[in-house]
Amino acid sequence: MAILVTGGAGFIGSHTCVELQQAGYDVVVYDNLSNASEKSLERVEAITGKPVKFYKGDILDRDRLNEVFEKEELDSCIHFAGLKAVGESVAKPWEYYENNIAGTLTLVDVMRKHNCKNIIFSSSATVYGDPAEIPITENCPKGQCTNPYGWTKSMLEQILSDMQKADNEWNVVLLRYFNPIGAHPSGTMGENPNGIPNNLMPYITQVAVGKLPELGVFGNDYDTPDGTGVRDYIHVVDLAKGHVKALKKIEENAGLKIYNLGTGVGYSVLDIVKNFEEANGIKIPYTIKPRRPGDIATCYADATKAKEELGWTAEYGIKEMCADSWRWQKNNPNGYED
Ligand code: NAD
Ligand code: UFG
Repeated sequence: MAILVTGGAGFIGSHTCVELQQAGYDVVVYDNLSNASEKSLERVEAITGKPVKFYKGDILDRDRLNEVFEKEELDSCIHFAGLKAVGESVAKPWEYYENNIAGTLTLVDVMRKHNCKNIIFSSSATVYGDPAEIPITENCPKGQCTNPYGWTKSMLEQILSDMQKADNEWNVVLLRYFNPIGAHPSGTMGENPNGIPNNLMPYITQVAVGKLPELGVFGNDYDTPDGTGVRDYIHVVDLAKGHVKALKKIEENAGLKIYNLGTGVGYSVLDIVKNFEEANGIKIPYTIKPRRPGDIATCYADATKAKEELGWTAEYGIKEMCADSWRWQKNNPNGYED
């Protein structure tokens, strides 16, 4: 039996394939490569020494999905495939609802027709909106998302939860990621954003490598210790390992489960700049810019539930996250195109 990994060529998916293979699982990757390179899978193979079975396909393509389920023996799916650019989702809401929601509805329909009713879904801390409590526990009410991307996560959580309630043969694990950064310590795999990065760490690494002149810090008048936004940055390898632990829950027939995957520690934008500079000996020039619309002041997890129920805790610290992000960028200034 193998695990279907949709979006497995992407940033978090490819790192999860490494951890799955190293834990002894067989993986089948399904990705339309709209935001990824197949080369990431070659790097997975180089690290693990095991081949990765890959099908190029879209989660909206029912026939292609049926073909994969007919050819492969799949008992669970880790579902990463989706569009994830917050700003783009505001400009193209239909495309986001179509891809993420219709795509997931198609995927789970094909899954149930093939009696594969185990799914781990990539959700996000964005479902908490402006969180009602800090640190954020899983009991914190979901909030008002500020963009269509966030709503796709919130709605898909609801859809998958309702399906599990109606049919308890389903096991559904919703993983709410905080801010994944870092890269595989080998320096051969990492985040490969298209165009100018929206997220903080890839922006910093592109400043460090000389592709961008300076970082814009979006606001220094938040109600935080230094006025800049505070987030819970988590190493992508720790995040990937969380998925292996979540599979164990699925194997216990746990029904519906929801976990925050974060470190429980908040760092400000300026903390990240400082840690990056110290870890790598590179100066990051920055200027203070206006607040970015839709941003909140503070977001970090209470990660106790994942520790108690999954036996999972993040192990990498901020310096390792900064060093690994930089090693990847330095070795691969043009991502997988190098
Ligand atoms: P990514 O863009 O690197 O990976 C997503 C993958 O899905 C890509 O390889 C892309 O080609 C593929 N894909 C997109 N639409 C598809 C479709 N219709 N059919 C088949 N494949 C498709 O992003 P990532 O950072 O690895 O994120 C993985 C998942 O985690 C996403 O669902 C994302 O929303 C979620 N998430 C990411 C973050 C983050 O900050 N990176 C935070 C919270 C949640
Ligand atoms: N920031 C800057 N300058 C930049 C980029 C970001 O100052 O050039 C700041 C932001 O204002 C924020 C912090 O850095 O305070 C982190 O911003 P990111 O864009 O890296 O991350 P977000 O917290 O905004 O959002 C990310 C993902 C979302 C996901 C969320 C929670 O982009 O998809 O984490 O998981 F939902």
